[in-house]
Amino acid sequence: MQLLTGKEVSDAVFEDLEKQTSQFIAKHGFAPTLAVILVGNDPASQSYVKSKKKACISLGFGHRDYELAEDTTQEVLLDLVKELNADATVHGILVQLPLPKGLDENLIIESIDSKKDVDGFHPINVGKLLIGLPCFVSCTPKGVLEMLDFYHIETKGKHAVIIGRSNIVGKPMAALLIQKGRDATVTICHSKTENLKEIVNTADIIIAAMGKPLFITPDMVKKGAIIIDVGINRVEDPTRKRGYRLVGDVDFEQVKDICSAITPVPGGVGVMTIAMLMKNTLQAAIQLAH
Ligand code: GUN
Repeated sequence: MQLLTGKEVSDAVFEDLEKQTSQFIAKHGFAPTLAVILVGNDPASQSYVKSKKKACISLGFGHRDYELAEDTTQEVLLDLVKELNADATVHGILVQLPLPKGLDENLIIESIDSKKDVDGFHPINVGKLLIGLPCFVSCTPKGVLEMLDFYHIETKGKHAVIIGRSNIVGKPMAALLIQKGRDATVTICHSKTENLKEIVNTADIIIAAMGKPLFITPDMVKKGAIIIDVGINRVEDPTRKRGYRLVGDVDFEQVKDICSAITPVPGGVGVMTIAMLMKNTLQAAIQLAH
């Protein structure tokens, strides 16, 4: 079994980004800059936002941090996005999801200038992805492709089964894998899928992205399958300092001897998401600087 570690891949991406960022700064006299908006106190979101800030600092990117209260109104949030859209010194805008209840996620995503939409969530970018035009691609599925490429995992003609139909992972992952050049045959399963076990059992590549801890069990995995575990779930663990540990959507210990390759959690896809966010932010800055 081959362990597909994200760290190895993201180190290579960061090394490349460092060079490109230095060239960008030398040419333009300013750094690519990312604005991150966090609304409320969700601990997982706070931790993700902290990692994004750290990544910006490590690359010499500019970073703007907006931490808004849980009861922030839609108007206040929309005004902030509008201000950042108009600010020429900001190249990427990210609103951390999920948003607290009462805020309309779709409306807020649509309010972001699609040229600064480094998350790739804006309908313009999603539409472009579907028809194969250059666009910002959602960071997690983009990171999965980067990992598949790094480890020379062929997708052509393979049956990829994606479990999870989110706008952030499942849907864009499917769009990417069916593109010409990737050429996978894709099935998307979700919570209402009948015979899920039988379907997943036919997968050459399993992409688990439904946010259910340890959901993928050995009986679902075909011998030699490749498993990409996108899940990052906090499960209570009093033996840990923080009181929880992170587990994926895949029961790693149980399936590790059946599959031919697997991404661990933590240390798998997670770090790739941030690497791709940095890549998208540099891309936004390059495009806006022209
Ligand atoms: N919440 C979970 N993943 C993401 C992501 O990639 N971007 C944003 N903005 N929020 C998220």
